[in-house]
Amino acid sequence: MARLRGLVSGALLAGSAVAQTSTFVNPAVPTHTPVPGNYTGALRPQVHFSPPQGFMNDPNGMFVDANGTWHLYYQYNPTGVVAGNQHWGHATSDDLYHWVNQPIALFPPEERVYVFSGSAVVDANNTSGFFPDQDNGVVAIFTLARYYEDGSGGPQTQNIAYSRDGGYTFEYYSENPVIDSTSSHFRDPKVVWYEDHWVLVAAYAQEFVVGIFTSPDLKDWTFASNFTQHGLLGAQYECPNLVKMPVRDASGAVIDEKYVMTISIQPGAPLGGSVTEYFLGDFNGTHFTPTDAVTRLTDFAKDNYAAQFFYGVPDGQNQINLGWASNWQYTQKVPTGNLEGWRSTTTAPRVNYITEAPRIGLVMVDEIYDLSPILDNKLKETTCDGVGTVALDYSSVESGALYIEVNVTNINTTLLTEYSTLNISFASPASGDILQSGFYFSGDTPFFINRGGIKGFDNIFFTDKFSVADVYSSGSRDTLASWSTKAIIDRSIFEVFVDRGIHAGTVVFYPSQPLTTLNLASRLPEGTSVSVNIWSLKSAWAEYENEDGTVVGNVTTHEKSAEKKGKAVYKSKFTV
Ligand SMILES: *[C@@H]1O[C@H](CO)[C@@H](O)[C@H](O)[C@H]1NC(C)=O
Ligand SMILES: *[C@@H]1O[C@H](CO)[C@@H](O)[C@H](O)[C@H]1NC(C)=O
Ligand SMILES: *[C@@H]1O[C@H](CO)[C@@H](O)[C@H](O)[C@H]1NC(C)=O
Ligand SMILES: *[C@@H]1O[C@H](CO)[C@@H](O)[C@H](O)[C@H]1NC(C)=O
Ligand SMILES: *[C@@H]1O[C@H](CO)[C@@H](O)[C@H](O)[C@H]1NC(C)=O
Ligand SMILES: *[C@@H]1O[C@H](CO)[C@@H](O)[C@H](O)[C@H]1NC(C)=O
Ligand SMILES: *[C@@H]1O[C@H](CO)[C@@H](O)[C@H](O)[C@H]1NC(C)=O
Ligand SMILES: *[C@@H]1O[C@H](CO)[C@@H](O)[C@H](O)[C@H]1NC(C)=O
Ligand SMILES: *[C@@H]1O[C@H](CO)[C@@H](O)[C@H](O)[C@H]1NC(C)=O
Ligand SMILES: *[C@@H]1O[C@H](CO)[C@@H](O)[C@H](O)[C@H]1NC(C)=O
Repeated sequence: MARLRGLVSGALLAGSAVAQTSTFVNPAVPTHTPVPGNYTGALRPQVHFSPPQGFMNDPNGMFVDANGTWHLYYQYNPTGVVAGNQHWGHATSDDLYHWVNQPIALFPPEERVYVFSGSAVVDANNTSGFFPDQDNGVVAIFTLARYYEDGSGGPQTQNIAYSRDGGYTFEYYSENPVIDSTSSHFRDPKVVWYEDHWVLVAAYAQEFVVGIFTSPDLKDWTFASNFTQHGLLGAQYECPNLVKMPVRDASGAVIDEKYVMTISIQPGAPLGGSVTEYFLGDFNGTHFTPTDAVTRLTDFAKDNYAAQFFYGVPDGQNQINLGWASNWQYTQKVPTGNLEGWRSTTTAPRVNYITEAPRIGLVMVDEIYDLSPILDNKLKETTCDGVGTVALDYSSVESGALYIEVNVTNINTTLLTEYSTLNISFASPASGDILQSGFYFSGDTPFFINRGGIKGFDNIFFTDKFSVADVYSSGSRDTLASWSTKAIIDRSIFEVFVDRGIHAGTVVFYPSQPLTTLNLASRLPEGTSVSVNIWSLKSAWAEYENEDGTVVGNVTTHEKSAEKKGKAVYKSKFTV
């Protein structure tokens, strides 16, 4: 959860303990039932999660249960299209593309105490003692942030709530907080299991410290170590994650495993606003030791922040994450708020492991998660020898969403010139809006994205052009090189996974008219094989719509609710 601008002062306050046995319900916020949504708008992504209405930011509490149901909670303002009034929204999915909106999972415990970011775990062994006769108990661990009547920020403490119905409804623990604090910038706990104990990482945001704590039972936490002032600092550290993942060789075989520490920075990213960096290293149960002095970024564009890894992915397997596809520099201004009543989407689900990138060394790969549940028709399957074009009118694809795969093989790098490029662009012939991307196979080998030709939104911080140097080949004279890319476009979000996911780029864009044509052009030496597949994607929301286009979500079960009625009429003080 980012700093809520204008509300945060340096105010430090002792004695922050609050007995959170009831919750404070704003009468404008529905309980027991999902918030209904209209997912038909021209800017509304069709294969990504976005909130039914209102404002979403960080993904929270992500876990997969024993039935393979993925749970996504998220920072949620159900009463407005800017940040504030933070609740935990909730959605579930069997495939990470089709999401069912569920009733809000966590409400503020008191007026002006908000539920900020955090995580959730399945306490299958009843380590917490909350679950006498079940193995699917869920414990959520999150920051409660207090604000005073004058809008200044009070303490941020770490708290827990438990769910006996698999993560649909929660009860606040009576002895909260579980990690007390007087700091107004201590937040975003992420918990994992390590051999025989729980491990929590949380950000002392303005001190550039990730605090590491351990616990046998999720209730009693012991300070273990600090990971202090690493990499880019920006102006705050937020949303740390610590996760173990396999290291794979070029053939995909697992050769090792390593821990990844991610830290989201906001504000002060190199490109402005929000970004996520990560460190590779080892973890021994109490201390994270980086492998090298290298700071790596998860994305080369501007719209992938606060990503979280799902708890419950079995040990030894690739990890899976979702990020918030936005940036605090403009997230509260983008046109979906005024035009369609919602703001922010998650990224597509990504699969992660570590591998060796040519010349660069170890990197975390971001691959697109199995798309088969939403793959529709193969619209194009074509190959060419070096020079070719594909022109596709996809105005008849109802979702407006496409998946594109390009493989380039037999590249003789000695024959490349400064003109050796392959571009993919999307346009609206009606309005002239255009989104461009492409790769230069020689020189500094940049992959670029340009959203500067998109006309529906502009802002001084809405940077147009992004690029990354993809060292795809060692450049030997005796071997032919290869390169590939995958991309998804979904109405107002474009994601590329360059060179097997060694680089990922995520951009949101807001066209004045829907984009409906794709143009792909390659100009490469004779003998180079270019292979292109393009699929339409099926809307993951349309099937949940009723006859007037509204998605209500799941109201059939889980009538029990954690909340008890608040007393006072509530008015949000947030004026972000
Ligand atoms: C849903 O949104 C679309 C596009 O903004 C609008 O045309 C339609 O009237 C809305 N439907 C309802 C039921 O409000
Ligand atoms: C899995 O599904 C079964 C049948 O619906 C249900 O009884 C059980 O509680 C579910 N398990 C979890 C972990 O949610
Ligand atoms: C649960 O208990 C098993 C058996 O003792 C142990 O191997 C495992 O690490 C424990 N896991 C958690 C999450 O408590
Ligand atoms: C779970 O923990 C509670 C509290 O320690 C205990 O009463 C209960 O017996 C435990 N249940 C199991 C199945 O271990
Ligand atoms: C860990 O960092 C926190 C926040 O800066 C600080 O208060 C605490 O004293 C540090 N602990 C140690 C042992 O350095
Ligand atoms: C973990 O690493 C730290 C720092 O290197 C060291 O002080 C500590 O003893 C190690 N703990 C274990 C259990 O190895
Ligand atoms: C690349 O092209 C050069 C110039 O035609 C040629 O000498 C060389 O053998 C080619 N390399 C490969 C690996 O085919
Ligand atoms: C790709 O785009 C770049 C930048 O606009 C342009 O210079 C280049 O000629 C394009 N390449 C092709 C094959 O169209
Ligand atoms: C690209 O290569 C991958 C891996 O060999 C293959 O699975 C995929 O079908 C290829 N796609 C195209 C468009 O050639
Ligand atoms: C609602 O939840 C129930 C129980 O989890 C499930 O069987 C049903 O398919 C869900 N409905 C929708 C629309 O997903």
